[in-house]
Amino acid sequence: MSGVGSIGACLEEGARCLAAAGIPDARRDARLILAHALGIEPVTILGYPERPVEDASRYEGLIARRAAREPLSHLTGRREFWSLDFEVTPATLDPRADSETLVEAALAAIQDSDAPLSIVDFGTGTGCLLLALLSELPNAKGLGIDIAEETLAVARRNAARLGLAERALFAIGDWCDSLAGPFDLIVSNPPYIPAGEIAGLQPEVAKFEPRRALDGGADGLDAYRRLGPDIYRILDPGGVAVLEFGLGQGPAVARLMSAERLIPQGFSTDIAGHERCLILAKR
Ligand SMILES: C[S@@+](CC[C@H](N)C(=O)[O-])C[C@H]1O[C@@H](n2cnc3c(N)ncnc32)[C@H](O)[C@@H]1O
Repeated sequence: MSGVGSIGACLEEGARCLAAAGIPDARRDARLILAHALGIEPVTILGYPERPVEDASRYEGLIARRAAREPLSHLTGRREFWSLDFEVTPATLDPRADSETLVEAALAAIQDSDAPLSIVDFGTGTGCLLLALLSELPNAKGLGIDIAEETLAVARRNAARLGLAERALFAIGDWCDSLAGPFDLIVSNPPYIPAGEIAGLQPEVAKFEPRRALDGGADGLDAYRRLGPDIYRILDPGGVAVLEFGLGQGPAVARLMSAERLIPQGFSTDIAGHERCLILAKR
């Protein structure tokens, strides 16, 4: 890609490289990567195509990584979720827009959003679910649990940058082991991909997302089996739990939770109309 001299030429050349590599939204990705590499707003790319680019080497390196199917969020280190800006690293799952369904469902299930609620988020990753909830619930406090310390470091930085660190604690843990309740709100987006399906996912996911964030065991439901009894144990009698799951897993997750005496209150659907999370209560 050498010899590119202007913003417009860089954009054209990067988009061409990415399209040749089979990246679906090649032009958009090239624009975001160029803006990141040059330290300017994406809108400037469109407005000033004639501006010279002194040194395109950083851009070229990032385009090569994207062409090798590394996720855009790993290259820019950022992802917007719930209109909040999150740091993302290769240690964390890249937050999905679908998971905003869980945040919406949890907020809808809460009766008094000014109450001093206690929240726990199992498998917190970037902290996106917990921090989105805390951003809407001014008097709530939350605990984010994850099995990976490097993930928790990202979540803590996100809490600090979003001004929520005083109400968010992040701790290492193996799901709910050694955790006593009660909690008013329990949320989790656990790993739910059946292990045998991971290799067939798009390369951005299969090659670059942490396996511990994806692998749900043989049928994808291992984490729910672990979480069910403990959610019952630590959920406040008047509280609510909201669990995300994969396509078509809703009935199986509802059965597993019912077997633990948790009562399904209904499913929430994502923007594409798929059942995406299950709302549970004790009564
Ligand atoms: C699907 S990701 C969800 C991340 C984040 N909550 C989100 O929605 O973007 C699942 C998370 O569960 C964590 N995890 C996997 N096994 C775990 C365990 N045994 N105990 C706690 N967390 C675990 C992974 O490290 C990963 O961050």
